[in-house]
Amino acid sequence: MIDKDLLKNMTILYAEDEDSIQNGITETLSLFGIHVICAKNGQEGLSLFKAAKTKIDLILTDIKMPKMDGLLMVQKIREVDEFIPVVITTAHQETNLLMKAIDLGISSYVLKPIDIYKLKETLHKAIEPKILKEQLLEQNKKLNIEVQKNKENQKIMVTQSRFAAMGEMINMIAHQWRQPLASIGTAAFTLKYKILSDAFNLDLKEQRNEQSVFFKNKLDEIEFYVQNLTTTIEDFRNFYKSDKKVLNKTIDSAIHNCLKIMKKDLQASNIEVQLDLKSKNKLNIYENEIIHVFLNILKNAQEKLLEKENHKLILEICTKDIKNTVQIDIYDNGGYLDENIKDKIFEPYFSTKKEKNGTGIGLYMSKIIIENHHQGKLFVKNIREGVCFSIILPKKIHL
Ligand SMILES: Nc1ncnc2c1ncn2[C@@H]1O[C@H](COP(=O)(O)OP(=O)(O)OP(=O)(O)O)[C@@H](O)[C@H]1O
Ligand SMILES: [Mg+2]
Repeated sequence: MIDKDLLKNMTILYAEDEDSIQNGITETLSLFGIHVICAKNGQEGLSLFKAAKTKIDLILTDIKMPKMDGLLMVQKIREVDEFIPVVITTAHQETNLLMKAIDLGISSYVLKPIDIYKLKETLHKAIEPKILKEQLLEQNKKLNIEVQKNKENQKIMVTQSRFAAMGEMINMIAHQWRQPLASIGTAAFTLKYKILSDAFNLDLKEQRNEQSVFFKNKLDEIEFYVQNLTTTIEDFRNFYKSDKKVLNKTIDSAIHNCLKIMKKDLQASNIEVQLDLKSKNKLNIYENEIIHVFLNILKNAQEKLLEKENHKLILEICTKDIKNTVQIDIYDNGGYLDENIKDKIFEPYFSTKKEKNGTGIGLYMSKIIIENHHQGKLFVKNIREGVCFSIILPKKIHL
């Protein structure tokens, strides 16, 4: 917004060789709160401009002056400050000079004898664009600081959300490991039992062979389960590697990798996962980020489904190509999302699970990953017996 009292506290360099005019105008300008630096000719004006300690906001100058005329002074000042507004004072007969002044990009002129109100209006108009530009620059600077702050906040949230996911991961690893660990335990116990109970008569060749086959099978079993444990750890480790590279692949591997991590946990919750993967388009994706989104959505669905009793718990993941995009729908039959909170669930820190330590950043982060990092869309709808989160990803990310 432009201040009506814009001229107040401005500093003007005023070049005029006639004392009586200069004194009169200077006195009146001072009454408006303007600081005036006076010069008697162009040369003095130029030196004063170059030596000025405070910033000069505008030049007001006569044209015809001894030593150096006003236009030459303006030309030389423009070499130092390309955009400073200039108002000239002129008489009717100086039309030629006026044309030259226009070439020099003079902001405006006032005719002599000077009408002080006209002069004030002209100065006001001349300075207005400069002030607007300065205000715009100032606002831009503030905006940039805000944008920067926002980026930093987002970084903190990414870390928070990864920590939250890590807690859940530990739970999932525990589920994933329970079965192979139990099997290794059983195999080791069986081996020990066979030895301690002298189950094989080692004096007989046939029994010795039987024992070695038995031992080999059990050791193979143990090796298989150890491999299984290692793969689980690799899957989780991969998820925690940060994505630096955009890949170009179908969405299937992100879905399968996510399910590898969650499968046992979902099974333990009696949730049936139904897949209908029709998409064939290859996509630009940061795979771990996309897996993170799937984990957030699936985890939410699981938490909702676990509140249901006497109910067949279903999670559906469907993909399809729509022209140059891929749509992924993740549906759970855990009941509708309350209409009152539907618009809020993507806001940071919105959670209806505060008593269960829900942080409320899962969906917020997911939206950022899909919409900012992948130029896609993430939205939610109540359909059939529950909620469907839809993700639309373009084939190409414009970097
Ligand atoms: N499938 C769903 N069915 C019903 N409500 C859901 C579903 N998914 C999300 N919500 C609602 O959206 C809210 C926000 O989800 P979000 O994942 O952002 O946070 P949270 O699950 O509460 O906590 P966290 O950040 O730890 O995941 C949830 O608290 C829940 O009320
Ligand atoms: Mg969540």
